[in-house]
Amino acid sequence: MERIRTQVGIVGAGPAGLLLGHLLDRQGIESVEIENRSREYCESRIRAGVLEHGTAELLAQSGVGERMKREGLVHHGIYLRFRRRSHRIHFPELTGGKSILVYGQHEVVKDLIGARQAAGARIFFDVEKTEVEGMEGTAPSIRFHSGGRDYEIACDFIAGCDGFHGVCRPAIPAGALRIHEYTFPFAWLGILATVAPSSDELIYARHERGFALLSMRSPQVSRLYLQCAPDEEIAAWSDARIWAELQERFSTDEGWTLREGPITQKGVTAMRSFVAEPMQYGRLYLVGDAAHIVPPTGAKGLNLAAADVRVFARALDAYYREGKKELLERYSEICLRRVWKAERFSWWMTWMLHRGVAGEFAEQIHLAELDYVSGSRAAQTTLAENYVGLPYEEM
Ligand code: PHB
Repeated sequence: MERIRTQVGIVGAGPAGLLLGHLLDRQGIESVEIENRSREYCESRIRAGVLEHGTAELLAQSGVGERMKREGLVHHGIYLRFRRRSHRIHFPELTGGKSILVYGQHEVVKDLIGARQAAGARIFFDVEKTEVEGMEGTAPSIRFHSGGRDYEIACDFIAGCDGFHGVCRPAIPAGALRIHEYTFPFAWLGILATVAPSSDELIYARHERGFALLSMRSPQVSRLYLQCAPDEEIAAWSDARIWAELQERFSTDEGWTLREGPITQKGVTAMRSFVAEPMQYGRLYLVGDAAHIVPPTGAKGLNLAAADVRVFARALDAYYREGKKELLERYSEICLRRVWKAERFSWWMTWMLHRGVAGEFAEQIHLAELDYVSGSRAAQTTLAENYVGLPYEEM
């Protein structure tokens, strides 16, 4: 068994774990990171692609924003499309100048891995049999298997950045967590297509046949989604059927056309709201998806993870530099206030835009909601300030 000693042991090299390691490094705090997938998998797995104003700023200020600033697409608004018409929500006008950046999560991951490796970071990919132990005391540890050998990381703190299906949250005794969970009665069928996006900004469409979303990854690559059943068989969806359904759901009376192109990826995404409270157990801190999940409408997942990381990195800085434990003790409380607001927003966007499952009265309420948002500056401000990202809390 090889023993490694570090200050913070990080489980998971997705955006949360990588950003945490990066920020800690800049604060002079040592970490070791492990990940059960391969580096190639982490760098190519297609996830959401919208960075809030504050997330983009956090990445840029910490020195990993160069390619993001060059290749990211600044969007000043989104379109809500219903009753065959589009309604634009203009972010800067409603939020004192803020906008969002369309830049794929896997691009953020690539940039962070690049920065971590340039800094000489220890990241183990492809690890197996990860276990976390001793969180109740002051000397927690992480055990894992890598390249035919067993390892143990002895650390002061464990950061559980290993996502919803990771090992960290289940390692907490059931009685110590309160779980809040809701599974939506629909899912998203998502595609990646090699075709120039048919709109300069994202289109969230509510149609009789269900929700559809037009997003993008670059000037040459479109990302599109359509509402489907949670148990939808992807095999039943030929490329032709997907395009026909998208054409229908995006159709307007405005002379707009949806460009089609070769589909390079397809998948079904479940829609779930989930919060584990508190986000801490002894010296194990849950960060990002390990603690909370939002449905993808509004693209809050990565942004919430970045906000957690920011709080945890600050709290560790106060602890190591000044011996202050107060922020560490308040980590969960500080994060959860923002998490619940994002849960609320994602929930609201999701119900307003999906259809066919809530009963006829609710369908009319959701349409009225869209009518209200498109006609009221106050309602638009509510949407816009949540979409570009609520302010971080003072610490
Ligand atoms: C995406 O581009 O993947 C995306 C964009 C906006 C969302 C969800 C997903 O609300």
